[in-house]
Amino acid sequence: MSTPDAPQVHLIDHPLVQHKLTLMRKKEASTNSFRRLLNELSMLMAYEVTRDMAMQDVVIDTPLETMTAKMIDGKKLVFVSILRAGNGILDGVLSVVPGARVGHIGLYRDPKTLQAVEYYFKMPKDMEERDIVVVDPMLATGNSAAAAITRLKQLKPKSIKFLCLLTCPEGIATMHKLHPDVAIYTAAIDRQLSDHGYILPGLGDAGDRIFGTQ
Ligand code: URA
Repeated sequence: MSTPDAPQVHLIDHPLVQHKLTLMRKKEASTNSFRRLLNELSMLMAYEVTRDMAMQDVVIDTPLETMTAKMIDGKKLVFVSILRAGNGILDGVLSVVPGARVGHIGLYRDPKTLQAVEYYFKMPKDMEERDIVVVDPMLATGNSAAAAITRLKQLKPKSIKFLCLLTCPEGIATMHKLHPDVAIYTAAIDRQLSDHGYILPGLGDAGDRIFGTQ
């Protein structure tokens, strides 16, 4: 569904998504179960984010008849992971869209200028013919997501969407200000951002919880 006051935000409120998200939020969830739940959630969210993919008619032979059937049209979709937590979403979305291509973008925040600085950028070829889904579990300040999207727009892709697990009003505001054309797909919009840039109530540091690096 699209939220009425923020038409670019698609809240994925399927009961399975909400149930798994609640299990992930619990502080006692182990690294193993956090990662497994993120994988399952990513599969479910992949259905929503790919719902409007272009289709084409193809003629095929079943064992009984020839028929005209539907297949996905166009160049392969690209999932772009914002390092490192975005990688936690890749396995799940790729199990649903196995032919997709994958790009990676790494950004860090310069402590003096507070600007996002790119340290890694590797994309498939022919990006101008492709649709992109940028993945990162947490859309918090929105600064890295916005910087990643600004960089990706230089490649002139056909479209860009953003897929996350959790966001908050601050992250949505940043994206709406800088990239109002990019639809956000999320399982929840939490209350607020803390002074330290964490989503509240949230689920803590997604990267640490995925990789067990706390
Ligand atoms: N990144 C995280 O991993 N968690 C937050 O709450 C915010 C940003």
